[in-house]
Amino acid sequence: MEKEDLYSRFVERNKNAELGGGVSKIEKQHESGKMTARERIDTLLDKGTFVELDKLMVHRCSNFGMDKNKIPGDGVVSGYGKIDGRLVFVYAYDFTVYGGTLSATNSKKIVKVQELALKNGAPVIALNDSGGARIQEGVESLTGYASIFYQNTIASGVIPQISAILGPCAGGACYSPALTDFIFMVKEKSHMFVTGPDVVKTVTHEDVSKEELGGAYTHSSKSGVTHFLSNSEEEVLMGIRELLSFLPSNNMEDAPATISTDDIHREEESLNTVVPADPNIPYDIKDIIEPVVDDHYFFEVMPHFAKNAVIGFARLGGKSVGIVANQPAYLAGVLDIDASDKISRFIRFCDCFNIPLITFEDVPGFLPGCTQEHNGIIRHGAKIVYAYAEATVPKITLITRKAYGGAYIVMASKQTGSDVNLAYPNAEIAVMGAEGAVNILYRKADEETKKQAIEDYKENFANPYQAAELGYIDEIILPKQTRFKLIQALDMAHNKMQTNPPKKHGNMPL
Ligand code: HXC
Repeated sequence: MEKEDLYSRFVERNKNAELGGGVSKIEKQHESGKMTARERIDTLLDKGTFVELDKLMVHRCSNFGMDKNKIPGDGVVSGYGKIDGRLVFVYAYDFTVYGGTLSATNSKKIVKVQELALKNGAPVIALNDSGGARIQEGVESLTGYASIFYQNTIASGVIPQISAILGPCAGGACYSPALTDFIFMVKEKSHMFVTGPDVVKTVTHEDVSKEELGGAYTHSSKSGVTHFLSNSEEEVLMGIRELLSFLPSNNMEDAPATISTDDIHREEESLNTVVPADPNIPYDIKDIIEPVVDDHYFFEVMPHFAKNAVIGFARLGGKSVGIVANQPAYLAGVLDIDASDKISRFIRFCDCFNIPLITFEDVPGFLPGCTQEHNGIIRHGAKIVYAYAEATVPKITLITRKAYGGAYIVMASKQTGSDVNLAYPNAEIAVMGAEGAVNILYRKADEETKKQAIEDYKENFANPYQAAELGYIDEIILPKQTRFKLIQALDMAHNKMQTNPPKKHGNMPL
């Protein structure tokens, strides 16, 4: 064959591969309001940077006459490219090919990208839209999942792993996203469940729609499986780009610093009045976080789940930080099981990837009640202490108001290894609130004595001074100084060197 013919044969095969399941399947994908795998990757990555791997790989199955329909690339588009000029690896299930189902070939393509990402220290992004295990391939498909899950686990804590659910994700297939660090979902377009509505109906007789069972809203507000709820695929893909801007490429690097034009000395007079004088009146902790961080910009994670805790990323003096906060505007900022899970997993993520932690604390305690106790608030709450205590990144805590009892201890108190502990002058650091304490200590006293005792308790205990006198609070600061004080503390701890004793891994209460 002439060289030109060889070249044109290649061009033809290449073009054909780019059509995936073909024009009609692409049209169907568009009709259902979804982009194709390649369109998603093009939107996600910096323009023109995508390098596709294994474009011509085909499945090896001959069951059910499958050998007559081998589509180049099979059901996955995979490779690498750049986001904001930084290397990332990506794979996208191609729903136009056998519903994006997982074949042995697809799993090999995915594992190749996962291994390359790990070896080269770059994030890996999975764009899911799949009918799950390819039935025709039987156990070959299931073992393909096992290989992917294995890689997810080995890469955990070494490179950031991000999943987007842009269509169906059912059965055991859900466990790959679940093993990654962050999950994005789209309203009404994406669904995740271990068993779908039909099986649910047969087994438990519950009638439930797929949206209610495993839609984006369900997983972002009820189950806590997903971290970001988006209105469209574009929003998901832009969200991934933004999230990555706060993260390093791997656990040996620091997150990229930006040059901040926001004055590090900026004082915010408004902060002096955010916390109400009456400790029983709520306020929004984001009214403290936002004015303090660079450009007032806070990138919140899991905003709809366990709203009594707030987590997310921001920058202080150009440096990426992880923010953990109690939210007095929701359930008075009390710690419960969901808040404990939300907080502790986030702390561990930040620690894996060298992102300093800033904790804004206003917590009345742990939520009482049989539901919480019987569902294990003890082991869930213990995760927060564990996560903070084992974290070796710089840890800075600011008590904005209440810090009571066990909740004071777990929220990055000095003795759990926090580097700098700050408090506002109105902070209340004590075993419990005045009324509760007096009711125990003066159970049999008359009302007048109790009233006086409450006043005395507030004066002597519901303040930051006992803790400051003992060195558990390093500095009491005025609210308007918060930004500069946090940046100073971060600067001080910039070269922090701390290692925990060598071990295979700890035994975190799960
Ligand atoms: C092979 C499949 C398939 C599957 C879909 N297809 N699922 N082929 N194995 N699991 C094919 C369809 O036959 C169809 O082929 C094409 O993909 C598109 O599917 P449609 O049904 O036409 O699309 P849609 O109406 O959008 O519905 C999509 C769907 C539905 C919701 C995903 O197809 C569905 O419910 N599929 C079964 C899902 C499932 O039960 N998977 C197994 C989960 S258990 P043609 O040729 O007509 O285009 C699992 C175990 C994993 O995955 C364990 C891991 C440890």
